[in-house]
Parts: sequence; structure tokens; C-alpha cells
Amino acid sequence: MTAIAKPTAQPEFGRQVSDHMLVCSYKDGRWHHPELKPFGPLALPPNILGLHYGQSVFEGMKAFRMVDNRVSIFRVEAHGERLNKSLHRMCMPAVPASLFKDTLVDFVTADHDWVPGTEGSAFYLRPFVFASEQRFGYKASDEYLFVIFGGPVEPIYNRPVRVKVETEYVRAATGGTGYAKCAGNYGGVLYPTQLARQEGFDQVLWTDSQEHRYLEEAGTMNVMFLIDGTLVTPALSDTILNGVTRDSLIRLAGRRGLPVEERRISSEEILAAGKAGKRIEAFGAGTAAVVAPIRSIAIGTQELLCYTGDDAVMYGLKKDLEEIRTGKAPDEFKWNTVI
Ligand SMILES: Cc1ncc(COP(=O)(O)O)c(C=O)c1O
Repeated sequence: MTAIAKPTAQPEFGRQVSDHMLVCSYKDGRWHHPELKPFGPLALPPNILGLHYGQSVFEGMKAFRMVDNRVSIFRVEAHGERLNKSLHRMCMPAVPASLFKDTLVDFVTADHDWVPGTEGSAFYLRPFVFASEQRFGYKASDEYLFVIFGGPVEPIYNRPVRVKVETEYVRAATGGTGYAKCAGNYGGVLYPTQLARQEGFDQVLWTDSQEHRYLEEAGTMNVMFLIDGTLVTPALSDTILNGVTRDSLIRLAGRRGLPVEERRISSEEILAAGKAGKRIEAFGAGTAAVVAPIRSIAIGTQELLCYTGDDAVMYGLKKDLEEIRTGKAPDEFKWNTVI
């Protein structure tokens, strides 16, 4: 494996793609042989079902350049399991774990010199599956494409963000698709997010669809709090995406000896804790941002300031995670697939 990385990631997240893509088709009830190709357009007619009826599911994951210059992909199995949960919810065929892992490894091997080596940077991987049967009658497709592409990225949300507790719009409702990483979930939140931005917020804190009391996610990240040193995060449900970063940080918090509570948490509770003088750290957790510190939370007309000082525990958790992914610390949880 060469020591030279391709151009360092451009500042704008998600613009730059690497040389290749991997394409695998599903037809006649089975996945066919995956093909590694130069990155380029997919020739698709406008009547494929995926463009109309929302059968489109994706993953977002990262490969890292390690201190010994090898490249590792983070938590392939966890992302593959979640992809299959999303596919199941959307009536789409599962991608076998071996196909998922082998294609990712082949793709990253082909484009390994695109994996940047600067601190905090990574090679973002976007595996996705969509319905490709040509037909416009509403039905579950019988044909699909599984595609992987990727590109170098810098961490997003480097500065602490200001968020608003959303009490009008919902991201996900009980019985819906919130726990699936399906395209429609993301299209549906663009509008309320845009409104929040117009009000001067960076992101929205989603609440439950019935009472708008309980906090669920931070934009397209899981939300976590450190309240006087206890890590508190909403328990998983069918309205919350089971984030791989969330799970990793929970385990790292446990390793640090921090108490961890996965439970419902309301905006009133956070506000009351702040008023009682407790130290509150709040952050979004996700593959793209890793840990996105929250500097303030607007709850109705009140705004709670959160702790973002240099000694905040969230930065320590982020560092623990980065050290494992880059091989600076032993991979004790067996999270890395080293190429
Ligand atoms: C809605 C939503 N919640 C949470 C997450 C965090 O998940 P992960 O840590 O697996 O990236 C993401 C991002 O992937 C997301 O889109």
C-alpha cells in the first residue's frame, strides 16, 4: 500500500468523489456479480420505481488512514446490519453481510490512496440501494442496484452549534420509518431545517411526534447529553436511528467509568438541570460530524447555554474514538476492518 494520499479533502463536505464506484444488481431474486468501475453516471431511465416511490436506502460510514499508514474501515458489520434493517422496512432485499463487507473492502482497496491522512479527516463511504425496476405502477420493485462510492472529507460542524427544539414539525412518528436510513426521512426534514436556519439556528432538535416533549435526534445525528458527568441519551425506538457513533460513544463512556443512561429525556428536564446549575454538555453524534458540540438549545422562548470548554468530556470521548480508528490505541472492541 502506498504512503501517498490523494488531494486532501476539500472543505465542503460531500463534494469530492474518488476514482471508482462499485455497482451490483439484484434481479431474478438474487444479487449478481459486483462490478468495480470508474466513477461516472449510471444510465437510468426515468420510469425506475426508486425515483417515484421512495425505495431508496443508504449508509454513511468512514475509512481512516491509520498511524502505520494502513487503511481501516470502521464498524462494517454494524453498518451492514443497519442497512438490512432499513431494507427490510422498505420491502427491499437484504444485502448479505459477506457481500457488503467484500464490496466495501474491494472498493476501498481500489481507492485507498484517496484516504486522507490529516487529523480528523477520513474517506467517507456511501453504500446505497435503490429500486431500479422500470415501471410506473405502484409496487415494491423486483430489481435493485447496490452502489458504493466515496470521497475524502473533513469533519463538519467544527464550531459549537445553536439548536432549536422543534415542536411543530416531526422527523419520525411511531410506526413510521424513523429507525430506517431511507431517503424519504431526509427529504422530509429539509423544510423545517431550512425554517430553523432562517431563524438563526444551525440545527433542529427533534421531539416525539405525540407530545413534542421528549428529545429524539439532533438534525441528522443522535443527540447525547453529559449532565454532571452522566451520559444521557434517548433510548432507541422506532423513531430514532440506531447510530453507530452513538453506540461506540456509549461503550467508550462505559470504559471511562461514566454512568450511562439510555432513556427518555424531555426538554423540560434539560432546562431544569441547567437552571439547577448542573453542568450540561450536549452534542450530536454521527459518522459525518463524529461529535458536534451544541452551544445552546432554544426551548420555546428560553435558551439554555451548554458547556463547550476545552475540558468538556465530549471531546475526550471523541478523542478516544479517533485513537481507536486511527490505530493510536488498541482496537479492543474489534471495530476496525484493516485493509
Ligand atoms: C437521522 C440520523 N440519526 C443519527 C445518525 C448517526 O448515525 P451514525 O452514527 O451511524 O452515522 C445519522 C447519520 O448517519 C442520521 O442520519
